[in-house]
Amino acid sequence: MLEFYDPSDYKNIGSDKVLAVGLGTYAIRSYDKAFDAFIYAITHGVNLIDTAEMYDGGRAEEFVGRLVKDAGRDALFITTKMLPDRLDDKDKIVRAAEASLRRLGVTYVDLFLIHWPNERVSIQQQVQNFEILAERGLTRYIGVSNFDLAQLRKALEATRKHEIVVNQVHYSVLNRLYVEKELLPYCIQNNVTIQAYTPLEKGSVATNAVLTSIASKYGKTPIQVALNYLISHKNVVAIPKSEKIDHVQEILGSIGWRLESKDIEYIKRRL
Ligand SMILES: NC(=O)c1ccc[n+]([C@@H]2O[C@H](COP(=O)([O-])OP(=O)(O)OC[C@H]3O[C@@H](n4cnc5c(N)ncnc54)[C@H](OP(=O)(O)O)[C@@H]3O)[C@@H](O)[C@H]2O)c1
Repeated sequence: MLEFYDPSDYKNIGSDKVLAVGLGTYAIRSYDKAFDAFIYAITHGVNLIDTAEMYDGGRAEEFVGRLVKDAGRDALFITTKMLPDRLDDKDKIVRAAEASLRRLGVTYVDLFLIHWPNERVSIQQQVQNFEILAERGLTRYIGVSNFDLAQLRKALEATRKHEIVVNQVHYSVLNRLYVEKELLPYCIQNNVTIQAYTPLEKGSVATNAVLTSIASKYGKTPIQVALNYLISHKNVVAIPKSEKIDHVQEILGSIGWRLESKDIEYIKRRL
């Protein structure tokens, strides 16, 4: 895995290393086209794949199962996410996880996330219940998604044996302030990785004027600048989604170089 890029292009999740840019599986239109695009990405070093039981009624997890069959279990760091209404009961949690694992065709995932907080159960209780997945070996790591700073603090304080290693949140050049000012400093202090979702703002960063002007300086595209900006931040990996090989190629071009800090500051001033 490590032969593709510079060591600095890999980030820690727990004590694992993943390529700083992975791929998400939400709202895939053609699984057959997506299969070719994802296999292309995996053969070019992408190892982090993000999915969820919620996506397309489980079909996205089945799609990741096809990838596992083709690429091999060890080629992938699989993240999936559980719906919050399961979290009041450990048996429900285990049953839902087993259903995800069946769809994925694996005996464990690398990372199981709480998709968003269950508002009816205390953070402490839901996180302690969720730890059952790591205790049973159904996942190697646990984490959360869409937790604000107060919720994340409570989650980290609640764990008994297994650390929260990830908070997966909306983070892009156009939606950056809360993450950069509130979440990220705390995450860096506490060895939590931010998985940045919707990092391309559904593709709309491609036409952003500020990014276009920076991109031309590097011979890169706005998409590549948008992703490079994110992964230039400590403890951040990005999980864009694409089911097109040419888009995946463009996404991969966000790795292997770094924006100069003056350009990062320029983006922060302008966006
Ligand atoms: N935890 C959560 O609550 C949560 C919420 C949202 C998303 N997520 C995760 O994060 C992943 C990514 O987020 P997202 O899907 O919302 O948004 P995104 O990655 O910002 O955008 C995806 C869109 O951008 C397009 N795109 C990809 N590469 C492109 C390129 N090079 N040029 C132009 N357009 C391009 C894709 O179209 P093509 O497929 O046609 O390339 C797709 O329509 C999801 O798939 C999911 O795994 C998690």
